[in-house]
Amino acid sequence: MLVRHATLDDLDALAAVESACFPPSEAADLDRLANRLETYPDHFWLLVNPVTSDNDCFPAQLDDGMLVSFIDGPVTAQADLTDEMYESPELHNSDAPWQMILGVNTAPMYQHRGCASFLMRQVILDAALAHREGIVLACKEKKLPFYSSFGFVDEGRSESNHSNVAWHQMRLKFNVPEDAPGADLLQASISLAMKETTAYMDHEHTITSQFPQVS
Ligand SMILES: CC(C)(COP(=O)(O)OP(=O)(O)OC[C@H]1O[C@@H](n2cnc3c(N)ncnc32)[C@H](O)[C@@H]1OP(=O)(O)O)[C@@H](O)C(=O)NCCC(=O)NCCS
Repeated sequence: MLVRHATLDDLDALAAVESACFPPSEAADLDRLANRLETYPDHFWLLVNPVTSDNDCFPAQLDDGMLVSFIDGPVTAQADLTDEMYESPELHNSDAPWQMILGVNTAPMYQHRGCASFLMRQVILDAALAHREGIVLACKEKKLPFYSSFGFVDEGRSESNHSNVAWHQMRLKFNVPEDAPGADLLQASISLAMKETTAYMDHEHTITSQFPQVS
């Protein structure tokens, strides 16, 4: 698997995965994704399977393989995630302290194999290396345990009312005392991401054993 940032050429594949993952009322449409891509392509993280077969029928083909998962969001001075961030990519400022996450998606045929977790750890590592204060996302209640497993802490109801859903805001802060809630999981996520990044750099263009091939 390869991890890379996005370009406008990836738009159709991103839109295909987005619409396969979310109902129309929640999915970012082509225009919104295009606006985000134009403004912050380096704040899209794509997991790409370079080994595809003629049997792959899911319409998420990229120049370098099949789009498996992606995570995206702006960097903002504002510490809380708001609905405006979904609509207004111009709020992005690459020098600001907070990495927001607006979308976490894995194409259905690749789900439950650890793909989103792998990519999330790369996002966490990149944000830590960029000296961000932390990462903020909004999720539905049933996803709280998934994000808690990386060290994100639930802050209760988000002020976001995106698509008329009750969201929880979750935050992963980097500079916290060792005994703070989630600090041990954060450290584990970063350590694992560092190992995975090294493996990726050593064995570029090979599929790692963590991702069973899809037959
Ligand atoms: C949520 C989503 C991004 C997760 O993607 P994913 O690639 O399946 O995520 P992972 O495989 O890393 O983890 C998902 C679950 O599979 C489990 N898992 C990981 N590897 C596994 C494996 N090899 N075998 C079985 N289960 C596995 C994880 O423990 C996790 O369990 P949990 O849901 O109980 O926490 C994906 O389901 C999706 O796109 N959903 C639709 C969009 C959405 O809801 N996005 C989140 C918005 S908040």
